[in-house]
Amino acid sequence: MLRCVLLFLLFLHLPSITTTAASPTTTTFNIVDFGAKADGKTDSAHPLLTAWSRACASRGSGTVIVPHGTFLLSKALLLGPCNNHNMLVDIQGTVVAPASYTRALAWIMLKFVDGVKITGGKLDGFGQALWRCKLAGKSCPVGATSLAVAGSRNVWINGLSSMNSELFHISIYQSSGVRVTGARITAPMDSPNTDGIHIQESSFVTVFGAAVGTGDDCISVGPGGSHIWIEHIKCGPGHGISIGSLGWEASEHGVWNVTARDVEFTGTLNGFRIKSWAKPSNGFARDIVFEDGLMNNVKYPIIIDQNYCPAQNNCPSQTSGVKISNVKFRNVNGTSATQVAVKLDCSKRWPCVGIHLEDVRLRYNGNGRTVATCNNVHGGSAGVVAPPSCISS
Ligand SMILES: *[C@@H]1O[C@H](CO)[C@@H](O)[C@H](O)[C@H]1NC(C)=O
Ligand SMILES: *[C@@H]1O[C@H](CO)[C@@H](O)[C@H](O)[C@H]1NC(C)=O
Repeated sequence: MLRCVLLFLLFLHLPSITTTAASPTTTTFNIVDFGAKADGKTDSAHPLLTAWSRACASRGSGTVIVPHGTFLLSKALLLGPCNNHNMLVDIQGTVVAPASYTRALAWIMLKFVDGVKITGGKLDGFGQALWRCKLAGKSCPVGATSLAVAGSRNVWINGLSSMNSELFHISIYQSSGVRVTGARITAPMDSPNTDGIHIQESSFVTVFGAAVGTGDDCISVGPGGSHIWIEHIKCGPGHGISIGSLGWEASEHGVWNVTARDVEFTGTLNGFRIKSWAKPSNGFARDIVFEDGLMNNVKYPIIIDQNYCPAQNNCPSQTSGVKISNVKFRNVNGTSATQVAVKLDCSKRWPCVGIHLEDVRLRYNGNGRTVATCNNVHGGSAGVVAPPSCISS
């Protein structure tokens, strides 16, 4: 039955295919036409949702336009599922959250979509009220990720600026084929948990050409991240590029095939890092390449920390079950803010194996030389390695 209908439709369309060059039609929906106002005060959540669902329902490609000006999105917005696999959300203006904080998981969530491109735009999450609550040590909501991509495929976020998120700026979860290019992400260095881009349970994710300065990780890859490519990034302030935290759950998916290259870190806490909780887990991290890194006054430029147990909560005197193998740190230069420029602190129960340092030139920003410290690390080194490698074969 379905096949008959499809054949019939095909037949109907044949003449137009033969007479004109295939030019797919695009239907455009401007949120202003659905009642949005560029005054930063009128809630534009409903107009945006309406424009989105009309675009999803249109034949050919569907475009949603958020024009110049400032638009308030006062509540969490769920975009998806969407039947249109050729969607464009063209944000020309600024989208702002309300000054008080939300209790949702995400402020803007793309969920169950396939084939969506978001271009341009500024998102201001107005996280200040929530950070103040957290910094005062009160009991506060976790906060909302500004832009979350979940359960989706083929999503391209190009040229987005995101500032002052309550929690992570961009998170990618249970998705594949996601590209983030030309992102600019900023939040103050003392804003809690404002990670730039977090990738988890996702594969084939590319982050290219981002500038990220926040109060937490610049880009992080959590459990279940695979085939991840991170390139041409500027980080700082913040906590650097991180794989982890891994091993919080006793049973979790591993991380594999991750490359982070051409990264310049300025004044960050870490450079290239892998960290796991000091507690039992079946997690792992393998086939990781960190290369072409430039460190400017970074506290821990190269670090594997398998004894992560802040505040000695839930894990004192335990060892990490996470297995770390085949990790390369290659062509990493610059300055360290501490003497321990290379810190490889692996699990006693599961030593790190296949750890390689190659062409590493790290100088101490004070008096004296940098040093490398190793615990339970096996692998090798090649080229110039300063500080001298402490890895055992
Ligand atoms: C690793 O991931 C990249 C994408 O980041 C992919 O192109 C490559 O084929 C993957 N390699 C393996 C061995 O799976
Ligand atoms: C590190 O320094 C070496 C030697 O000066 C140079 O060849 C290489 O390109 C530098 N790499 C980076 C990432 O700056």
